[in-house]
Amino acid sequence: MHCEARTLSDSASTPNTATGDALAASYDDVPYTSAPSPARHPERLATIGQLLGLDVPPVSNCRVLELACGDGASLLSIAATLPDAHFVGVDFAAQPIARARRMADAIGVANVELMQLDIRALPPDLGRFDYVIAHGLYSWIRAEVRAHLMPAIARHLAPGGVAYVSYNTLPGSYMRAVVWDMLKYHTREIADTHGKLVPARALLELVATPVATDSAGQQAMRSEVRDTAQSSDAALAHDDLSEPNIPVHFHQFAADAARAGLAFLAEAHANAMTVAGLAPHVRETLARLDRISREQYLDFIYFRRFRESLVCHSEALSRAVVEPARTLRLHALPSLEVRTAAARGEGNAMDAQASAIVRVLLERWPQSVPVAEIDARRKRDATQASPPTERLVLDLYGAGMIELRTAPISIARVAGERPRAFSAARWLTRDHEVIPSLYHAPLRYRDPLGRALLALLDGSRTRAELCAELGGPFAGAEGPGRLDRALGVLAGKALLVA
Ligand SMILES: C[S@@+](CC[C@H](N)C(=O)[O-])C[C@H]1O[C@@H](n2cnc3c(N)ncnc32)[C@H](O)[C@@H]1O
Repeated sequence: MHCEARTLSDSASTPNTATGDALAASYDDVPYTSAPSPARHPERLATIGQLLGLDVPPVSNCRVLELACGDGASLLSIAATLPDAHFVGVDFAAQPIARARRMADAIGVANVELMQLDIRALPPDLGRFDYVIAHGLYSWIRAEVRAHLMPAIARHLAPGGVAYVSYNTLPGSYMRAVVWDMLKYHTREIADTHGKLVPARALLELVATPVATDSAGQQAMRSEVRDTAQSSDAALAHDDLSEPNIPVHFHQFAADAARAGLAFLAEAHANAMTVAGLAPHVRETLARLDRISREQYLDFIYFRRFRESLVCHSEALSRAVVEPARTLRLHALPSLEVRTAAARGEGNAMDAQASAIVRVLLERWPQSVPVAEIDARRKRDATQASPPTERLVLDLYGAGMIELRTAPISIARVAGERPRAFSAARWLTRDHEVIPSLYHAPLRYRDPLGRALLALLDGSRTRAELCAELGGPFAGAEGPGRLDRALGVLAGKALLVA
């Protein structure tokens, strides 16, 4: 196939139809650092597809296409953990693709092709992919460009495949748009994206300052302004100040997908579809609606501002009903929220049966546990009638307390004599604020010594050599003990390779 014949270097000569595009220039001007998220991992797409009855391709040797892959930090981190899978990342901005190529070379991934291409001009022979990812694209491009996205996904998605699309949604984005409008007005005379950042932050500071007579509505808007002020430069430049930035209602998104022969499958975060916190009469009203309307009204109720939706070919989706028995084929992990609460010694409000499952998962972290094993253990230990494992696992998943995946991965619980950390995390720890765990979780790891240690863990150094090279608190008699503890922290973040 055509794209398989291309190498990393010869794809550099791919013609870029977007040369001179102001949007491409803005991404060359202010770098957007692509952050990891389990929701953008083919594992998540496969898991949700499988639960909803799709015949999804196995992840281990799947084909993944990322449209608008940016600096590739997300795609390459995934590729580094799936050596038998094949990845293609396209983006029309030159600088991000150049950074992606540098990272690919540095971490030695050979299963990724990176191409500087406009999504409006994808080669017809690009091929079909089991999983397609388009993050940060749909609502940040002009309508004329957006019109190409769903047809491109439909063309390049394999029959049983699943695609991820994120976008700003209404009605919640109306609140954000109040801030976007004032920022754009304030910086209207400044041409380069980078130059807008300082004045934009000055305006945010001005408007965030409380006024003695603030009403509840004004306080809410001021808190919106404060939230925007917390954004990184990349988010401020490419989301809040982005031109264009056109949020849509969910029903518009679903109709756009349907026109291309695609159907809404689910949200990438199972807990985004929950009705658990709603009053009974609200739930009853929603239960009478079809799937698409129900999602739309959930957006009204939650004032939703952002979605990460999964779509598939319409003909692949027969019922879109969760099949509980399929959980028994999956592997479970405690979610970040549950691990954070456990580390703080806090419990989570859940019944004893669910809590027993979470306890097992916490004990086995950072390894995942087959749900079938949990089921066998529960059946063996059952002293009384209890809810089926499938039900409990689905409830925990829907509540965001556990993660599910189709396959386990190899993660070290303890560091060896020559400790080795995840190659993508080692590379990104040098200049990315957020680094990926082996589960593609975003880690905001701030400890500078821990980061320095992580960067050295390529498996070539003994513990004694690590202590010597790090020096400072790792030198002297206390050094080995400190190193042990620091390695324990990295293991607990699922960063060490077995
Ligand atoms: C907000 S960034 C998201 C990058 C990446 N998906 C991530 O997860 O971080 C949006 C990206 O879309 C790219 N982009 C925008 N319009 C495009 C187009 N027409 N064709 C290809 N890439 C495009 C930009 O260059 C930029 O890298």
